[in-house]
Amino acid sequence: MDDLKNSLGSRYLQETKFDEQTLHRKARLDIAPAHPYKEYAGADKIKLPTTWEMDKSLHDTLQYRRSHRRYGDAALSMEDLAMLLWAGQGISGRAGSFFFRTAPSAGALYPVETYLSIQHVESLSPGLYHFQPLEFCLELMSEGFVGKSVAEAALGQNFMAKAGVVFIWSAILRRNFSKYGHRGLRYIMMDAGHICQNLLLAAEGLQLGACPVAAFYDDALNKLLALDGEEESVIYLAAVGAKE
Ligand SMILES: Cc1cc2nc3c(=O)[nH]c(=O)nc-3n(C[C@H](O)[C@H](O)[C@H](O)COP(=O)(O)O)c2cc1C
Repeated sequence: MDDLKNSLGSRYLQETKFDEQTLHRKARLDIAPAHPYKEYAGADKIKLPTTWEMDKSLHDTLQYRRSHRRYGDAALSMEDLAMLLWAGQGISGRAGSFFFRTAPSAGALYPVETYLSIQHVESLSPGLYHFQPLEFCLELMSEGFVGKSVAEAALGQNFMAKAGVVFIWSAILRRNFSKYGHRGLRYIMMDAGHICQNLLLAAEGLQLGACPVAAFYDDALNKLLALDGEEESVIYLAAVGAKE
């Protein structure tokens, strides 16, 4: 049997983790930047229409989504929270005993877990929770406001402490690597991107502000959630709150 810990994917994840000591060494490579747009000089250009038939609410959600980092004082409702969770990872289909979710997942393996730092949500005590999609419920892990610790672990991005909720996504590497091997880490990150984008669009649809965050001290968040950082490790965050 191959060892998960020594797989290329695991080593990449370990070696690109941020911590306070290595942040500045790891955060930059001395590589020249590239132009953000590619163009085929001399190619025929075919102008595209800018008016089209599309469901207006979907169009506006796509058009107006922006990363919001300033949150107001209003608490999120339980309905908003439930909808955000459903949009990110809710079960939306079934084939026999198998369940599909709102976001696609390579091989339908669903390696991403959702945790919540609840900070300002009506009828929920601040604390850390785990989302359980099969029963569509939250599991209370520990009570007490940890927004400041989450913000500190996110390289001191203080706006996160003011959010109503911070979504913390981890990956259970084995779920994916046991099928896709070294290539698995790519798929896990793509899965997380789909989940996060679903969440961001749902937040916009609910008139809430949201911001994805990938700059964080990995093991500080792993510690907060009691994850070992090898079998399961935090990979992505998103703050959501009332727009200011
Ligand atoms: C993978 C990823 C990581 C990001 N990490 C952070 C972050 O750590 N802090 C932050 O404030 N914004 C973060 N963002 C948000 C980007 O800064 C933002 O998406 C970008 O500036 C484009 O703006 P828009 O989202 O409003 O369209 C991240 C976005 C992505 C996709």
